[in-house]
Amino acid sequence: MDRTSQISEKPPLIDQFGRHITYLRLSVTDRCDLRCVYCMKARPEFLPKSELLTLEELTVLCDAFIARGVTKIRLTGGEPLVRKDVITLIENLGARIGKAGLKELCLTTNATQLPKYAERLASAGLRRLNVSLDSLDPDVFSRLTRGGKLDQTLDGIAAAKATGLHIKINAVALKGANDAHLPDLIHWAHGQGHDVSLIEVMPMGDIGVDRSVQFVSLLDLRREFERQWTLTDLPDNTGGPSAYVRVEETGGRLGFISPLTGNFCAGCNRVRLTCTGQLFMCLGKNGSVDLRGAIRDGGFEAVDALLDQAMAHKPLQHDFDVSPGAKPSVARDMARTGG
Ligand code: 5AD
Ligand code: SF4
Repeated sequence: MDRTSQISEKPPLIDQFGRHITYLRLSVTDRCDLRCVYCMKARPEFLPKSELLTLEELTVLCDAFIARGVTKIRLTGGEPLVRKDVITLIENLGARIGKAGLKELCLTTNATQLPKYAERLASAGLRRLNVSLDSLDPDVFSRLTRGGKLDQTLDGIAAAKATGLHIKINAVALKGANDAHLPDLIHWAHGQGHDVSLIEVMPMGDIGVDRSVQFVSLLDLRREFERQWTLTDLPDNTGGPSAYVRVEETGGRLGFISPLTGNFCAGCNRVRLTCTGQLFMCLGKNGSVDLRGAIRDGGFEAVDALLDQAMAHKPLQHDFDVSPGAKPSVARDMARTGG
């Protein structure tokens, strides 16, 4: 049942600093078939399946957000496509596009399952995919993902391209690991017609690495690129944190997601929901509200009331620190919160 059609006009979600929250990121699982070195430990402890919200409960929660003016939902993880039957959630949410205000449904994926799912994703109404891919060198890819096969990811990207989905490649820049190869990745992606966004590594999760060893500044990388390319700033805003340029030599679009060197919190329009129903108001802070309790004990109205509480507590900004010896900003890793 589509509950959004029953809801009378409800006030939009506006936080204590006047920011309109129109974008929900939903981590449907903390599990993944890869083990990226900046994302999780080699042997992560995943949440027991018994703690997960059902797909029906997640749909109801999405409806509660849509009723309050959320226009964009991104499914993330972990790897969203490894969750059993997740395609039915995607199809149900896809059916809400254009109704009750949902404008866009997106997915962040590592692409390994795309040969299986690309067509159904496109039919469900998805238009844009973010694919995590940090290197085109099979050995580097395998090292960074702790055993992933580059060909599997490339096959997934090709399958998505064949269905006409718009693809953006997301690459986390890692000092000495993939930074020297990023121009090759960008060149290839632009040649394929894909956008690229580079991401500064964030100190999330106690995953046993000193982030100062991994961190590379995108300001520095941009300067480096400008020795070989002409970069023209673009006004494009896709509702996310990327600052875009056009690479004149490739004709493609390149985004810089710079949580450390270019704090973008002032324009934050999003909140993050985990697969256990914890709503985090900020990627880099611990504050959360428990929507699982609300939906199980109080239903839709109880969830709605908690959303107002959440807005009153959304922090102004994260305070990520990647200096040598710094502790992670939060104990949970990215797969838990959703990237
Ligand atoms: N810092 C920055 N990006 C990260 N991702 C995962 N962990 C981190 C981190 N610690 C990225 C993935 C993917 C998205 C879900 O988040 O590469 O693109
Ligand atoms: Fe999986 Fe994405 Fe984390 Fe890599 S970054 S381990 S693909 S969730």
